[in-house]
Amino acid sequence: MKTLIINGTVVNSTGTALADVLIDGERIAAVLAPGSLLLGFDVAANVDTVIDATGKYVIPGGIDAHTHMEMPFGGTNASDTFETGTRAAAWGGTTTIVDFVVQYAGENVIDQYNRWQAKAAGQCAIDYGFHQILSDVQDSSLVAMDELLNEGVSSFKLFMAYKGVFLSDDGQITKAMQKAASNGSMIMMHAENGSVIDLLVQQAIAAGNTSPYFHGTTRPWQAEEEATHRAIMLANLTGAPLYVVHVSAKQAVAQIATARDNGQNVFGETCPQYLYLSLEEQLGARSDQWGAFEGAKWVCSTPLRSREEGHQHHMWQSLRTNDIQMVSTDHCPFCMKGQKDMGLNDFSKIPNGIGSVEHRMDLLYQGVVDRQISLERWVEVTSTTPARMFGMYGRKGVIQPGADGDIVIYDPNGHTSLGIGEGRSHHMNMDYSAWEGFEIDGHVDTVISRGRVIIDDHQYLGAKGDGKYFARGLSQYLI
Ligand code: URP
Ligand code: ZN
Ligand code: ZN
Repeated sequence: MKTLIINGTVVNSTGTALADVLIDGERIAAVLAPGSLLLGFDVAANVDTVIDATGKYVIPGGIDAHTHMEMPFGGTNASDTFETGTRAAAWGGTTTIVDFVVQYAGENVIDQYNRWQAKAAGQCAIDYGFHQILSDVQDSSLVAMDELLNEGVSSFKLFMAYKGVFLSDDGQITKAMQKAASNGSMIMMHAENGSVIDLLVQQAIAAGNTSPYFHGTTRPWQAEEEATHRAIMLANLTGAPLYVVHVSAKQAVAQIATARDNGQNVFGETCPQYLYLSLEEQLGARSDQWGAFEGAKWVCSTPLRSREEGHQHHMWQSLRTNDIQMVSTDHCPFCMKGQKDMGLNDFSKIPNGIGSVEHRMDLLYQGVVDRQISLERWVEVTSTTPARMFGMYGRKGVIQPGADGDIVIYDPNGHTSLGIGEGRSHHMNMDYSAWEGFEIDGHVDTVISRGRVIIDDHQYLGAKGDGKYFARGLSQYLI
């Protein structure tokens, strides 16, 4: 199967050029000056499909390096399965996800890894890899960290919050970091001070402050900054590389920037919700349908931060300056009915998470339109850096000969309306949208996954099981 994309504007993180792209089978065979293949070449006889991308961007498929499909969490399961979540991702121009295998205290890491492989096998619309969550860091977990490297799992997430669920204490974190320093893997950190948060939550509930807004106020930026600093210090002590997930506080960004300036291998990820949404959303001002409980739609951790304090503005700036290197979604969707409403009378019982896997490419493209980031930076933070950070670059994250034929044709003259209200819809398995009413000045027209067109002309043309497990290498930012 050969596909030729002609007359498009190819955007890599390194630059933009008018070029034709030839895909042969699953891989990109050539990137050519426009029309050059057509000279003396019988296209009709040699190419199965020609796609005219005149006036459109041809970009490497998006890589969402932080998703939680069907994750058991908060007394329920994230509402997107590997099937529904990866299909929604495809609709939005994401062609690879890296999801998290969960290990709760007492569970065996390798058993859990095998469970997650079995859950995802034959279900996914796009390629997928895994990070491994570690909670209690048993001796066997340290052995598993070596074994999993051979399976293509080269990153391990630890939590400084969620006591009794995920939280690792500083000794456990240090042990896992020592292993990462010796085997070359990456430590990912949920950096919030769990003990402080638990106390503030308890006090808020006792004072009758039970609505979703208080989820945000009981997870203050100081708890994020302190934990980020502590994680950086422990990484410094052990020599482990550190990737701080879902950064939302500008003070946490400053900690990351300082560590990087000091030469430490510290990286930061933010998410669309921390670029666009704010704590003020959780006051429930946008609708009276659920009263103050409307704010449950945006309960996630780290929490949305106050717009008045300028976190969102600072986060865009940090993306431009590379103090923050990439954008993932932390896609962890729950429905309002039957899931989020478990916390109707107590915000601490609302399952934490927002669903955005379908919208990340669009929301970040809007940042290009709004002159927050450049076109090339858009590709860099949504595809190229995730590929490099997590050992996929060369096959993923770039349009070049030899790379997988994962390509999105994006129309800058198109339009996308987010949400599920009148005249709108999404493909995520959620009964609401955290992005209701958002308008995007662009559109994902065509999505190609390893050479197969899976989205075109507003139709899904793929099938579950098209997506294959991607065994990742070590981070390509480390020596
Ligand atoms: O609220 C969130 N972020 N839910 C998913 C779990 C996590 O901490 O990433
Ligand atoms: Zn987290
Ligand atoms: Zn997460």
